[in-house]
Amino acid sequence: MTAQLIDGNALAKQVRAQVAGRTQALKARGIVPKLAIIMVGDDPASAVYTRHKVNDSTETGLEATLERFPATLPEAQLLARIDALNRDGTVHGILVQLPLPRHMDSQKVISAISPGKDVDGFHVANAGALMVGQPGFWPCTPFGCMKMIESIGYPLRGKNAVVIGRSNIVGKPMAMMLLQQSATVTICHSATADLKSHTLQADVIVAAVGKRNVLSADMVKPGAVVIDVGMNRDDQGKLCGDVDFASVREVAGWITPVPGGVGPMTRAMLLANTLTAAERAGGQQPA
Ligand code: GUN
Repeated sequence: MTAQLIDGNALAKQVRAQVAGRTQALKARGIVPKLAIIMVGDDPASAVYTRHKVNDSTETGLEATLERFPATLPEAQLLARIDALNRDGTVHGILVQLPLPRHMDSQKVISAISPGKDVDGFHVANAGALMVGQPGFWPCTPFGCMKMIESIGYPLRGKNAVVIGRSNIVGKPMAMMLLQQSATVTICHSATADLKSHTLQADVIVAAVGKRNVLSADMVKPGAVVIDVGMNRDDQGKLCGDVDFASVREVAGWITPVPGGVGPMTRAMLLANTLTAAERAGGQQPA
């Protein structure tokens, strides 16, 4: 069996179209959704990511600003800038691009963002809201993964889901979202004794490790849904995920490609979260 592809580009386009419609509705009420992005230092990958985020926003009708600071910026100045953005009523979403320079405490910086503007969903208040099933902002990557699973009409209730990776940004929130849909969730990580014994039981596998070929065909149950969060380079320098795509696609039922899978969905969900923030600020129940 060859797996069906879950097309992240196509799905992201749908999400952006919905966001564009909601943006128009807000603008008609005199509210212009606005995302403020901060980047500290000159990490080349971060420069590309933040540029994409600004372009995605403006193409969808949102306003976006990118403020770049030198790597030597004192942490106190960054905190002061975040405080000003928290107080600025025209700004609905605030995103501080990670990683930050080593002299900064990322958790402290993220905690300085008002939870209602934390469209990355990294603030402990939003992590806690996800944990207890209350409204908040969900981190964009796992949120996008959930949308992809939803798009194929796959019922998660009672299914075995394995998340490989335990990061605060992807693995842990992903597990919570799957649990909220009543899947039986296992989180595997670098200290897991026998990864294959877990993945072979899984109806859904989310690979979020950041290492090539973490998941090969012999580790996958026939028909499983495989979501690949990885963004790596192969020996030829080509973008690839955590999953050995060529072999796993012959066993899985559904699979996300890299590129063109989770990446575009992550970007789209940031726009969706920003719109939700603007709608909430405008006293509207989000769509
Ligand atoms: N760096 C890599 N991915 C992300 C992300 O989703 N949000 C932020 N703020 N920084 C990142």
